[in-house]
Amino acid sequence: MSLYQIMYISSATGDVSYSQCATIAQTAAQKNSSEDVTGLLLYNGKRFLQVLEGPRENVERVYERIGRDGRHRALVMLRKQEIDAREFGNWGMAYDDPARPSSNLKSKVAALLEQAGPSTRAHFIGTAEMHRN
Ligand SMILES: Cc1cc2nc3c(=O)[nH]c(=O)nc-3n(C[C@H](O)[C@H](O)[C@H](O)COP(=O)(O)O)c2cc1C
Repeated sequence: MSLYQIMYISSATGDVSYSQCATIAQTAAQKNSSEDVTGLLLYNGKRFLQVLEGPRENVERVYERIGRDGRHRALVMLRKQEIDAREFGNWGMAYDDPARPSSNLKSKVAALLEQAGPSTRAHFIGTAEMHRN
């Protein structure tokens, strides 16, 4: 079966803490495993960037469900494409803080933000830095 990958960004509606986001990612990992979906969730205190990959139907179903979640809004699809192999296959839903990427995800997060394009990257990282100052 062919694999599909989507990447989107969204804005948190209220105050979502880093630990709440880690919990979202944990729950997501459990649910996604039953759909054969893997991915990555980045959070900078204000915006989410998520990658979902797996069988196309499942990825689309999960994305639809996520879109109805009141904890974020203004979802913008950045990428949807067929892929040959999973980029985040080892993680149910890897979770990371883009300003302080964990060592095992660092290069993947950097590559991802590179692919996301300069404006998204600046926006996403820029907000994280502002958030910390
Ligand atoms: C930024 C963000 C990312 C999420 N990612 C996932 C995900 O990858 N998989 C998932 O099942 N739920 C994810 N959720 C949670 C879903 O939106 C939803 O709350 C959860 O799947 C429970 O759905 P249900 O109440 O219809 O069972 C995410 C939520 C947010 C705010």
